[in-house]
Parts: sequence; structure tokens; C-alpha cells
Amino acid sequence: MPPYEKFLQEVLIDAPTLQARVAELGRQISADYAEVSDLLLICILKGGIMFLVDLTRHIEVPHEMDFLAVSSYGKGARETSGKVRIDMDLSAEVTGRHILIVEDIIDSGLTLRFVMDVLKARRPASLRLCTLLNKPSKRQVEIPIDYIGFDIENKFVFGYGLDLDEKYRNLPFIGVVNLDMLT
Ligand code: PRP
Repeated sequence: MPPYEKFLQEVLIDAPTLQARVAELGRQISADYAEVSDLLLICILKGGIMFLVDLTRHIEVPHEMDFLAVSSYGKGARETSGKVRIDMDLSAEVTGRHILIVEDIIDSGLTLRFVMDVLKARRPASLRLCTLLNKPSKRQVEIPIDYIGFDIENKFVFGYGLDLDEKYRNLPFIGVVNLDMLT
């Protein structure tokens, strides 16, 4: 039995379903940005990494990518602390460019509120947001989302970029955590 299995209550979104939706999002983004020559994808680390890697392969418009590491949950925490901080800033210029943020999940919305405020202050030509997962029931602040992979219920999920105590980000599916197995 693989080590992750004891933490897995159920597979919420299997790998083929994820991949099909990511491809669809890539096609939609390619169409929407067809006339844009200066698209910059900004991946929010660490959770967004798997989604970014798959999504970028389906975006036919030439684009750059950069990485912004932020955190608010802390190791092992299931609720956001509400205090978001930048752990690693971008290397790319944002001013005057078309920015698409790529994120794994929007929960309270506090992380993205912070990220969007930081990026807006750098005066991009446009700023849009793409998230693989959206948990509307947990929202504390309003966030305009342009592309959503899946709306999900309020379940503690892991895999495909999302961690369980920093591990299992590599799983190719989204699973629901078996809370009985957490200490
Ligand atoms: C997770 C996720 C989002 C954020 C969403 O990141 O990747 O960035 O939480 O939650 P919110 O909408 O309530 O702010 P986390 O801080 O766990 O860091 P990680 O991506 O490095 O796992």
C-alpha cells in the first residue's frame, strides 16, 4: 500500500478528469489572450506548481512564467492565519504587462487578496486570476476569479500541488484527507 493511502478518504478528482479540465482551461486562455503579445503567468508557490506545469503546455500564446512564493497557513495548519507574507518575490517586471495568476486553490481568499493588491500596485496592463480549485463556502473576502477548474465543497484536500504537512504534492489526483488519520 503506498504511504499516502492511509490519509486518503476518497479521490475527489481523478487524474484524467484533472488533465481534461486543465487542457480545456488552456484552450480558453489561448483564445482569450490570442491578441496579447506580452502574457506573463505568475505561479503562486508552492501549491500552484503542478497546475502551472500542466497548464502552460496547453497555452498556445507565447508567454513567460514567473514564481511568487507566499504563505499564511504555516506548517501543518488547516486554517489560514490571515497574515500573508511574501517568501520569495518575482524576478520579472509586472508594470505594463498582461498578468495571469495561476493558483491551486482559493479558500478564504486572503492569500489572493494580498497577492492581487501587491501586483496591482505594480501597475500591470491587465490582471486576471486562474485557480484550479475554488472553495466558495470558505470565502472571507470577495475575489474576482476569471478561470475556475472546479468548485469544490468544504473538504480538506491534498495532492496535485496541495500538501498534507508539506508532503504528497506529487500525487496526480486531488484526494480528500481522512481526518481520523491526522494527529
Ligand atoms: C494555500 C494555497 C493558496 C492558499 C489559499 O497556500 O496554495 O495559496 O493556501 O488559501 P486562502 O484562500 O485561505 O488564502 P499555503 O499558504 O498553504 O502555501 P503552499 O501553497 O506553499 O502550500
